[in-house]
Amino acid sequence: MAKKLAVIGAGLMGSGIAQVSAQAGWDVMLRDVTDEALARGTDGIKTSYDKFVSKGKLAAADAEAALARITTTTDLDAVADADVVVEAVFEKIEVKREIFAALDKLAGEHAVLASNTSAIPITKIAAATERPERVVGTHFFSPVPMMALCELVRGHKTSDETLALAREFAESVGKTCVVVNRDVAGFVTTRLISALVVEAAKLHESGVASAEDIDTACRLGFGHAMGPLATADLTGVDILLHATENIYTESRDGKFAPPESMRRMVDAGDLGRKSGQGFYEH
Ligand SMILES: NC(=O)c1ccc[n+]([C@@H]2O[C@H](COP(=O)([O-])OP(=O)(O)OC[C@H]3O[C@@H](n4cnc5c(N)ncnc54)[C@H](O)[C@@H]3O)[C@@H](O)[C@H]2O)c1
Repeated sequence: MAKKLAVIGAGLMGSGIAQVSAQAGWDVMLRDVTDEALARGTDGIKTSYDKFVSKGKLAAADAEAALARITTTTDLDAVADADVVVEAVFEKIEVKREIFAALDKLAGEHAVLASNTSAIPITKIAAATERPERVVGTHFFSPVPMMALCELVRGHKTSDETLALAREFAESVGKTCVVVNRDVAGFVTTRLISALVVEAAKLHESGVASAEDIDTACRLGFGHAMGPLATADLTGVDILLHATENIYTESRDGKFAPPESMRRMVDAGDLGRKSGQGFYEH
């Protein structure tokens, strides 16, 4: 019998996780707070499957079968028979803690409760439940169908069994896992990109090199697909600033202290591609 996955949040990440999971044979229940959000999520999934079909990377019949494995609901009670629940709602700790407190009451005893948070310590989310040993981080990357990584994050009380089940789930949907053994803010990936962006922004701020040259140095010198300042513009300067400030607050490590110029960019609305101006004009 197919395993059952519940995905909470039908935004960019939740719908991507639902998409790859249904394609891998999971029965997926996608939950959001409104029918409009659910329709946006499933429309995005359909469009993405269509693209894979038109490029010859997915058979039309397989896309149709995968879509048929996805059901939608606004009712959180529907998590009751899920083997794995992945939460992918806004990056707000209060919202996530509220959801996990509800999941604790509604999900089956055997369920793995996973969060797709990109930076919030899993232990803080798990503490909203009475089963922190069943809570784990499964950090997927955007766009989920294209990006091969899943960062598995062990909270302070996550059990070996939960971590192993989370790995089984992520590998079953085609991802390669790395394990974060200690629950530090920003995990491994967000810490690495934050440190690089902070240093790049400082070099830029102090006039050591232009944005173009800093990014070219990383692309041609290190083989990075994209330079750190172009990455900040793509992700959102505000998003990276927020992540970096969180890591700095938790770690008190000066290398994560963002330069003031990055704060002023955000104050002025220069957020990157989404606003038309960031480190580059778009
Ligand atoms: N966007 C990225 O590149 C990226 C990458 C890795 C991880 N993440 C993390 O994934 C999570 C989701 O990010 P996103 O970009 O998909 O956000 P998003 O804004 O696209 O989607 C969030 C969705 O959550 C829904 N939601 C809010 N409260 C809810 C609730 N109580 N129950 C059900 N649904 C609810 C919203 O309606 C929305 O559809 C965040 O924690 C984010 O940090 C994002």
